[in-house]
Amino acid sequence: MSERITSVLNEERRFPPPERFREQARIGTWAEYQERYRRSLEEPDAFWGEVASELHWFEPWREVRRWNEPFVEWFVGGTTNLAYNALDRHVEAGRGNKVAYFFEGEPGDRRVLTYKDMLRETSRFANVLKAQGVEKGDRVAIYLPMIPEAVVAMLACARIGATHSVVFGGFSAQALGDRIADAEAKAVVTADGGFRRGAVLPLKPAVDEAIARTGDVVKTVIVVRRAENDVAMEPGRDVWYHEAARHASDVCPAEPLDAEHPSFILYTSGSTGTPKGVLHTTGGYQTYTYLTARTVFDLQENDVFWCTADVGWITGHSYVAYGPMLNGATQVMYEGAPTHPTPDRMWGMVERYGVNVFYTAPTAIRAFMKLGDEHPAKHDLSSLRLLGTVGEPINPEAWMWFRRVIGGDRCPIVDTWWQTETGGIMLTTLPGVHDAKPGAAGVPFFGVEPAIVDVEGNEVPDDEGGYLVMKRPWPSMLRTVYGDDDRYRNQYWSEIPHVYFAGDGARKDADGYHWIMGRVDDVVNVSGHRLGTMEIESALVAHEAVAEAAVVGRPDEVKGQGIVAFVTLEGARQGDDALREALRAHVASQIGGIAKPDAIHFAEALPKTRSGKIMRRLLRSVASGEDLTGDVSTLEDRTVVDKLLQGS
Ligand code: WTA
Repeated sequence: MSERITSVLNEERRFPPPERFREQARIGTWAEYQERYRRSLEEPDAFWGEVASELHWFEPWREVRRWNEPFVEWFVGGTTNLAYNALDRHVEAGRGNKVAYFFEGEPGDRRVLTYKDMLRETSRFANVLKAQGVEKGDRVAIYLPMIPEAVVAMLACARIGATHSVVFGGFSAQALGDRIADAEAKAVVTADGGFRRGAVLPLKPAVDEAIARTGDVVKTVIVVRRAENDVAMEPGRDVWYHEAARHASDVCPAEPLDAEHPSFILYTSGSTGTPKGVLHTTGGYQTYTYLTARTVFDLQENDVFWCTADVGWITGHSYVAYGPMLNGATQVMYEGAPTHPTPDRMWGMVERYGVNVFYTAPTAIRAFMKLGDEHPAKHDLSSLRLLGTVGEPINPEAWMWFRRVIGGDRCPIVDTWWQTETGGIMLTTLPGVHDAKPGAAGVPFFGVEPAIVDVEGNEVPDDEGGYLVMKRPWPSMLRTVYGDDDRYRNQYWSEIPHVYFAGDGARKDADGYHWIMGRVDDVVNVSGHRLGTMEIESALVAHEAVAEAAVVGRPDEVKGQGIVAFVTLEGARQGDDALREALRAHVASQIGGIAKPDAIHFAEALPKTRSGKIMRRLLRSVASGEDLTGDVSTLEDRTVVDKLLQGS
């Protein structure tokens, strides 16, 4: 927290919304944005009350907002149901035959699911959960490939008031087990396996291993048949979904739930060793994701929307499962690798489904850019009218490529900044209102009051770097860290008093645009995935050969950041390539493939301050091959660094 934040990006280009886009946009003038933004801050209760009224409530709320720092409640006393709002509401309004999802599996299998289909499938799934003993308030872990059943399972939980905890299918058995144990999940929903890069990725064995580590917390495992790989079924605990569903009714009334009923837990990395269970609730979350999806993506009745995120991440929760469905939107969902079987897979799908709005991650854009312009050039992408990015800062070069090659120089791009904790988009441009600047994440959304401050919490002048904070609560704000209010308070509301601390460095320019400079805590962002360096360090030191480990990020052309580990070994152990590979595999088994270090440096010792703190700044410089220009006066033993440099 003491290092000074300086911004080096100097980008002057700006792209106004095209006239044709502006004319049909949901919000098409600066004056309208400003008036609504002003009202959202000056009369928040009226503003959010009106938005929430567009959704269905069984019982109206008595109070829009109750703020008792750092705890907030929204729509106090109201009862509602996320699944009812995402499904029944549309079917009742006569939109039952509208397509909810065009799904493609990696092998090429296709399914089309309407809102009526989704309601029926969700109700059936909810009845299976109930028959397996899952009740309102229970936690259900969901560990599935990106198939429609993933969204169905989430909505089924929401329908009966069970709290879901989706765990990304790429996480290891150990990571899954930790999450099951922390949330005390009574049930796990999984699949035999999924398809990835032409192979079957088995999921069920990881579930078995995870459960073996967690004692008798899990009472039931519901297994969706997807890849038809062989799996072992434990009698009395495991059930095939397709068999259980045969006896289940496809009618299940949505449970009226308190607006503050916990809808889901999603684990994310922080600056300490264990992931945090970010807890979201119901009424505020649905109101905010509904409005942001509608406004930021300018969703029109006949649009086809494609957000490429997996449901294992917050983007898949808010802008695949919930936000678009709350708006009755038509979406594309894809199971597999973006380049399988050919590098133009995604662009073929954009053409096939006539995708209008396409939302993806900078890391994917950089990977596509590397593959070459000839792949998108094979397809007619003229249906696209709006593009979006999320997950990490986008470099202007990739932004310009996205605009030109994918957007045909005609589509606005929204660069949306937000977090697992914020539940929905916080900083963005509105596509029909604001000029876009390549690399900048725009202005605050309605009801959002950001500031850039120094360590003491004083606002810094425009164009100066500082910490990004939020000065007031918003409807989809996390409510706490599951089971750990102290951690919630310390992590988000103590670092700088009386504001929400996001953990990012940023600067605001004279037009009020935010330029995000990356995390200021010990978190690396690999391909848009947040990983705590401490988590990877704990995984490394859990290996018998490792005495001590320090993990840092280094710039990576495609992934944004790569992971570099500095490792000291036990006793007389010698490091070699075989051990490097063993350690990488070990990290993959402890956390997941995404956490594998790109490079491992064996070191005799790690650079430390006299008080014993590892000097990560130095390690970052060594890892990225930079000169050690910064202050090294606090270093305890300078020779340690010299040896590291020789070895790197
Ligand atoms: C980073 C993902 C720059 C940021 C929705 C944040 C971004 C972390 C952007 C949250 C963006 C997200 N520009 N950086 N548009 N969007 N980030 O929880 O560092 O997986 O704190 O949520 O990603 O990651 P998370």
